[in-house]
Formats: sequence, C-alpha cells, structure tokens
Amino acid sequence: MDDLYRKAAESAEYIQKRLTTKPQIGIVLGSGLGPLVNEVKEQIEIDYGDIPNFPIPTVEGHAGKLIAGEIGGKPVLVMKGRFHFYEGYDISQVVFHIRVFKLLGISHILVTNAAGGVNRDFSPGDLMLITDHISFFAPSPLRGKNVDEFGVRFPDMSEAYNKELIAMAEKTAGELGIKLQKGVYAFTQGPMYETPAEIRALRILGADAVGMSTVPEVIAARHAGMKVLGISCITNMAAGILEQPLSHEEVMETAKKVEARFVSLVNKLISNWNV
Ligand code: HPA
Repeated sequence: MDDLYRKAAESAEYIQKRLTTKPQIGIVLGSGLGPLVNEVKEQIEIDYGDIPNFPIPTVEGHAGKLIAGEIGGKPVLVMKGRFHFYEGYDISQVVFHIRVFKLLGISHILVTNAAGGVNRDFSPGDLMLITDHISFFAPSPLRGKNVDEFGVRFPDMSEAYNKELIAMAEKTAGELGIKLQKGVYAFTQGPMYETPAEIRALRILGADAVGMSTVPEVIAARHAGMKVLGISCITNMAAGILEQPLSHEEVMETAKKVEARFVSLVNKLISNWNV
C-alpha cells in the first residue's frame, strides 16, 4: 500500500473512533474566519496534535483543531486552521487533511479564505464565490507517484468549483440579502504579499482575487472526486491598487468585520446543501 494512503488511513481511523456522527461536508476555515465553529452543535474537538500523522499549523490566527458536529442539522467536520505551503510543509502535507476527509466518507467540501482583491470593482469586506482558479505558481499536490486509491493520474479540472453549488450559494445569499461577488482566485506561494507588478500580471491573466491557500486543497479534492464550493473574503485590495502597504493586521481586522455576514451565509448554505 502506498505510504501516503496508509498515513491518511491511520489519521482517518483515529478521527473516526472519536466521532459520533458521519460527517458529509468538510469545511476548511481561512484566516480570521474561525468563529464559524461557534455555530457547530454537539461539538467534538480534536487537536491536530493528537491525530497521528497530522501536520500542526504555525501561523498566527489559525488554531489547530478539527471540530465535528452539526450545522443546520447536517453533520460537518470543520478544520479550524489549515496547512500553508509558506509554513514550510511539503505540498502533499498541505492537502493531507483533504485525503483524510475523503477516507472519512466526506463527499462535499467548503473551502474559505482571506484574499486580496485584484478586481478593481471589489471592495474590502466583499465575499466572493470562487468560480475557478489559477494554480501556475503552486507546485502540484499530485506531484509524484499517483495514489490510485484517491484518483487518476491526470484529473480533469474543467469544473473545479461545482456549478450547482455555486448556483445554490447565489440563491442562498439572495435569500439573506447578502451581496456576493464571483471570480477567479489565483494562488501565490507567500508568505510575502505580492508586488504591484505581480498584481497587474495576475489581473491580465484573469484573476479577480489572490491568496496563499485553497488551490492545492481544491486540486486534491477534485482528484478524489469531491464536490467543492469556495468562498473568499476580500480582506484588502491587492498590492498597488490603493498605494498603501498591506498587513496581516488589516487582513484580520476586515475578516472580523465580515464575520457575522460570513457566519449567517455559511449557516444557511449548509442547511440548503443537498449532499
Ligand atoms: N495577497 C495574498 N494573500 C492574501 C492577501 C493578499 O493581498 N490578502 C489576504 N490574503
């Protein structure tokens, strides 16, 4: 058996033993979006450090906990804190939890992140449904020997973000009177923010938002045949747009302001979600 598969199976087995529900939807929370976990009913918390083979996140603003329970009556498994490539992890570790989700029987994933707005029509505080991504600047999480148990060698990425889920999210936002942007998310390795020239280049390439996460996870999820919905919180305008420096503090501050809107959207999204 492939070593990666065996390790993910060991993690899944440990988690499974601690769960009382069978989660259907996996949720990955981005920077500053952690308070969503307060919405999870009948919580069971598992520290990443207790899970065999799980990496441990290091960045400020990211707790390292897996939280199982229910949102809107649906069993979910929430990752509070993810693994970023810039932390020094190998790219296969960055997506390790996605493989574990798969082995736990999870078929649908909601990925969220904080992102810089590349599209000049966006404003800080906007929520953006991710319609597609650009991953040119990320090493592939599928690099190396293919793990056939998860998926095929050359997976299709034509519909990385599920169209039905995007439509469902738009309908849900409409019901709540929440405005949603839609657009393409470009991955950069970080941890430095981009230069203005890089942002101009990304805009020419078709990006609407930029960030340092999500894309590797989505690739691993699609490889394993899971359906993905992605939401970016536009925490700042990307470099060079407002001619002011970018900071992690600004990112966290905006994420905090958006928190209530984000939480009500996700709550209702999960209730409306047909798994
Ligand atoms: N660039 C990259 N990642 C980010 C940004 C940004 O402007 N804002 C939040 N995450």
